Amino acid sequence: MLEGKITNLRPLDLEDLERVYKWINDREVTRCLAARYPLSRKDEVQWLDNGPPNSFAGGVRLAIETKDGVHIGNMDLTEVRPEDRKAQMGVMIGEQDYWGSGYGTDAIVTLLKFGFHDMNLNRIWLHAFEFNDRAYACYLKCGFQEEGRLRQHYYTEGRYWDSIVMAILRNEFDALHVAAEEAETVGV
Ligand SMILES: CC(C)(COP(=O)(O)OP(=O)(O)OC[C@H]1O[C@@H](n2cnc3c(N)ncnc32)[C@H](O)[C@@H]1OP(=O)(O)O)[C@@H](O)C(=O)NCCC(=O)NCCS
Repeated sequence: MLEGKITNLRPLDLEDLERVYKWINDREVTRCLAARYPLSRKDEVQWLDNGPPNSFAGGVRLAIETKDGVHIGNMDLTEVRPEDRKAQMGVMIGEQDYWGSGYGTDAIVTLLKFGFHDMNLNRIWLHAFEFNDRAYACYLKCGFQEEGRLRQHYYTEGRYWDSIVMAILRNEFDALHVAAEEAETVGV
């Protein structure tokens, strides 16, 4: 288990099926992800059951829980490239009641710390759709920088949308978060 300040990150389990099924069929959630098609329980069982174990080569898939054990979302590191020391991050708080309360930021910072300090990654990147202002604000807060826009990269709801490429490097993470943690520890 990875411990953040207000979240814990644990491996996903078959017992998470009903929540994962609900979230992946909630259009308010999936419109923010590249997840266009409704998925069945069987699809989700397959997704939960057939993934490789968390590892460097296989990537990392985790459940996001509040400190009192409520499973509110999932996140992952995929497309891990050993030569480039890079991976792509995905995150979904599926429980809408928990949006905008800092859980995403805490979970992301916790996963970034694991990616940089335990997996020895150097670059973690992602895509965010241009309409996803909450995600964009959250990623900026975590230290991601906008690197460019893929124009009309995604089609949904009757039109094309740009996709924003964002990334954070290990030295940027350390400058922002490790320095802040050290200052907290010494009470500055
Ligand atoms: C994106 C997501 C992970 C962010 O997690 P979260 O817990 O909701 O975000 P946080 O509360 O940590 O931070 C959100 C920030 O955006 C701000 N925000 C919220 N709604 C906003 C909006 N409509 N426009 C601009 N900023 C907004 C908040 O004020 C907060 O910043 P602050 O702490 O400086 O005030 C989560 O909302 C989510 O999973 N949404 C659905 C799926 C999704 O979008 N996944 C990401 C795909 S790229």
